[in-house]
Amino acid sequence: MLFIGVDLGTSSVKLLLMDEAGKIHNTVSKEYPLFFPHPGWSEQRPQDWFDMTMEGLPELLEGADRSQVAGISFGGQMHGLVILDENDEVIRPAILWNDGRTMKETDYLNNVIGKQKLADLTGNIAFAGFTAPKILWVKENEPDNFAKICKIMLPKDYLCYKLSGAFATDVSDASGMLLLDVKNRCWSPEMLKICGISEQQLPHLYESYEKVGTLKSDIAAQLGLSDNVVIAAGAGDNAAAAVGTGTVGSGACNISLGTSGTIFISSDKYSVDPNGALHSFDHADGTYHLMGCMLSAASCNKWWMDEILQTKDYAAEQAAIEKLGENHVFYLPYLMGERSPWNNPNARATFIGMTMDSTRADMTQAVLEGVAFAVRDMYEVAKSLGTDIARTKICGGGAKSPLWRKMVANILNLPVDIPVSEEGPGMGGAMLAMVACGAYASVEEAASAIVKVAGTEEPDPELVAKYEARYQQFKAIYPALKPVFDVIV
Ligand code: XUL
Repeated sequence: MLFIGVDLGTSSVKLLLMDEAGKIHNTVSKEYPLFFPHPGWSEQRPQDWFDMTMEGLPELLEGADRSQVAGISFGGQMHGLVILDENDEVIRPAILWNDGRTMKETDYLNNVIGKQKLADLTGNIAFAGFTAPKILWVKENEPDNFAKICKIMLPKDYLCYKLSGAFATDVSDASGMLLLDVKNRCWSPEMLKICGISEQQLPHLYESYEKVGTLKSDIAAQLGLSDNVVIAAGAGDNAAAAVGTGTVGSGACNISLGTSGTIFISSDKYSVDPNGALHSFDHADGTYHLMGCMLSAASCNKWWMDEILQTKDYAAEQAAIEKLGENHVFYLPYLMGERSPWNNPNARATFIGMTMDSTRADMTQAVLEGVAFAVRDMYEVAKSLGTDIARTKICGGGAKSPLWRKMVANILNLPVDIPVSEEGPGMGGAMLAMVACGAYASVEEAASAIVKVAGTEEPDPELVAKYEARYQQFKAIYPALKPVFDVIV
């Protein structure tokens, strides 16, 4: 049997065709635009996601035995607000996970409704990128659009709806809406009331590995597939990546260096970060997880390479980096403000510490190190909550760089296991489809059969010590600059 995993990312949709033994038969990637209509805002057109998926699928299936395709599922960028009217038309562009426009609504939720109440109802406090503050923003700023809302969904749920007709979401992705009672895996009636919406406007909730429907017959015919192809609910991209890297069961950790940077710790117990810096979400394997999310990770390097250095040769720039742990240039990676641990849409990216002898390589090194130091900030919060992390997996575009992986291993002082495939969310999506089709009895079973580790980046004690000293310096920069960020908005 063959399974399709759809990784609906921020810069592109990545499609993957895999058999139940975990062999990847093909991958296809299709880009779509990202719009920044105001500084700090971030939007996409849901129709682009669907069009590019439909453009990619025939390429993905070229040469494959289409009769063998049994299931499709998703790992999708989280938190994005997609709203449909009574004719199923998209009302306005989707407001994405890294959009910072909802400061007023986030402050209202955290300070007027109150963080404690939010944490009691949902396990989480409000962050600008979460879906509930965006609903309040539309209500306040676009009342005509708000009045038209018939369906509220997350980005991957839009694909699921277009492909199957099922108005469905899964608990891992729904956790990031601030509308879900994460502990009990159901909508929170009180949160719906606070946002002025009803349960009819929200998708039906499933576990990530459950079947929500089958492929619509016209789409099946167009693709040469059977209309028995199962559509499984899928997961938020981080939970899907965790599945795809085998981060299931209790105490497993995965770091993702994608457009965003995340640290994901799976747990069979529900727990809440009392300071709200880490998210408490449902996992795609039926359990829970804690997660920290920084808004710009590999995107910092992409911005530095593409926009500033104007080069496509990332490897050549990294080859010039020689003095690990000795760089006196620092970089704060807050190009889109920051979520974890600061929850500050006004934070901005910064270089600091340059002298006349600073080089291009020092600046590139600072960008890579700054992202890894910020991952360490989130890791420190996780440790302070008593989570016991012995090693981590790594995935995402940034994980392709051996140098970056080495920085992460030494800055966090953690062995970093490198999965054979870094296609985390796509693989996870395909694996969730396998469980929905009965190829495996559970997500854990699928992960232990399929996920293989190619090697491990072990921390080197000498480098760990050098980086420890640098991290202590890095840590001082954000608190010192915070008042400046508040002034320069
Ligand atoms: C997680 C988050 C990001 C997006 C990126 O909370 O906002 O990782 O899911 O696609």
